Amino acid sequence: MVALAEKAPVRLTMQTVEIAPNTTAIRSLDWDRDRFDIEFALENGTTYNSFLIRGDKVALVDTSHEKFRQLYLDTLTELISPAEIDYLVISHTEPDHSGLVKDVLQLNPHITVVGAKVAMQFLDDLVHQPFKRMLVKSGDRLDLGQGHELEFVSAPNLHWPDTILTYDHGTHTLFTCDVFGMHYCDDQTYDEDLALLNADYKTYYDCLMGPNARSVLSALKRMGDLPEITTIATGHGPLLRHHIPELVGRYRDWSQAQAKAATTVALFYMSEYGCSDRLAQAIAHGIAKTDVVVEMVDFQMADPQEVRELVDMAAGVVIGMPPQSGTYASHTQALLSTILAASHAKQAFGLFEAGGGDDESVYPLRNRLQEIGVTEVFPPILIKETPNESTYQLCDEAGTDMGQWLNRDRSIKQIKSIDNDLEKALGRISGGLYIITAKKGEASSAMLASWVSQASLEPLGVSIAVAKDRAIESFMHVGDRFVLNVLEEGNYQPLMKHFLKRFPPGADRFAEIKTYAANNGCPILADALAYLECEVVSRMEGSDHWIVYSKVDVGRVSKPDALTAIHHRKVGNHY
Ligand code: FEO
Repeated sequence: MVALAEKAPVRLTMQTVEIAPNTTAIRSLDWDRDRFDIEFALENGTTYNSFLIRGDKVALVDTSHEKFRQLYLDTLTELISPAEIDYLVISHTEPDHSGLVKDVLQLNPHITVVGAKVAMQFLDDLVHQPFKRMLVKSGDRLDLGQGHELEFVSAPNLHWPDTILTYDHGTHTLFTCDVFGMHYCDDQTYDEDLALLNADYKTYYDCLMGPNARSVLSALKRMGDLPEITTIATGHGPLLRHHIPELVGRYRDWSQAQAKAATTVALFYMSEYGCSDRLAQAIAHGIAKTDVVVEMVDFQMADPQEVRELVDMAAGVVIGMPPQSGTYASHTQALLSTILAASHAKQAFGLFEAGGGDDESVYPLRNRLQEIGVTEVFPPILIKETPNESTYQLCDEAGTDMGQWLNRDRSIKQIKSIDNDLEKALGRISGGLYIITAKKGEASSAMLASWVSQASLEPLGVSIAVAKDRAIESFMHVGDRFVLNVLEEGNYQPLMKHFLKRFPPGADRFAEIKTYAANNGCPILADALAYLECEVVSRMEGSDHWIVYSKVDVGRVSKPDALTAIHHRKVGNHY
């Protein structure tokens, strides 16, 4: 029987702050949210920030997550009568910002919704009622009066195709929604203490913006044409005021480093069709773990010339199948032909269905790519039912497989290049042999580990170094639980051999392996010498590995007199 930890009540609070003349931030503080997207563990909760700008006309910028429905609407209506709101600016349509658009429009159906064209398509499906709309792109302006003239900047793929930024010329405030945000919940409205924010700012960039590094650079260039920016009003976490050049500069540096990397994968998907965007993101996340750059392209927004150039330079191509019929069918057919025409034999490819009910079949496209000589690095991902955690895990692992395949020469070179005294000396550091096992919902994973060490006495704790491109890395974020299985000297070969196998993406690592459930729900290997139930407390970034520190809650030894298997190495440049 798996023991479930008792959950504390969820803490949701509101904060309103005047951030500039006639400009109010309405911040929904979600103190305990512990997971955002499947891959995104939140150590410090998150916030959803919305803004009210009052000129002669009144604009609301974004709303909040639906879990804040009552709190948000009460706060908003205390600040202003909904009848006085003229515009609702939609920076981006994910439900954490647009979850209450329908409610706001119910309060005042005469509001004009302002956003990118692709955002309106999504809102039509969300709201299911006619509404007044104003489509905007870079350079368009909306004058609210009293100096509050808004200018819009298109920022597609940061991290969604519909993203726009809004600059108020009257207050020099740039409203950016996801961009420059972080999942960090605190009463502090602004970014006073950078030391507290550094890790969350970077994690957020890595998960959401890093896969679209070139789009980030394009958006930064467009932002550069704006006058002075004194406040960046983000949609998540603190607003930026004290460290704007530093924090914007980090986006530039990280994105330039990403974009410079020699290896790029072009990943095509169809926004707002089936689960294409989320599946694409999971694959992109898996690829990005291997330090390969991903360029995500929404079929709906793609330009044939840019697609041709991108595919031509890309080392890998991933395609999410678009619908066979509908408004975009002829456009996507033409783009698929463009992709095929630009593909060449040195590339890798992978295909995935979107599960939209009208997907193009993967097989004709797969045959064509194989005829050209492009190498398939993961089998087609077929979506027969609503994706769940194991589907996203499969996508993540497929992405990592592609990245590792593309990096294969580099890895071989690294191993071959080292044979000096330093590496030989380093190789004399030995470790034990362990299998880490983890389970989260429907998803599970396992990994052979050797870089394991006891790391504290009070509480009892261990540290484990996990390569950044390992599938199990997603199961070892702060607060996650896993089991450390200790292998036995003289009796470790079968387990080691099994877990060293290269598993196809999404494969069940425990098929044919005898396990039983630990208190924390993770599998204990029946043939292990001992096991420890662990909970991740913190992670340190160590170049190409995460150093994961965990406290140990429960442990047991099956054979008191047996010894731990030891891993002796000759050189320290690989495992
Ligand atoms: Fe914060 Fe992409 O939603």
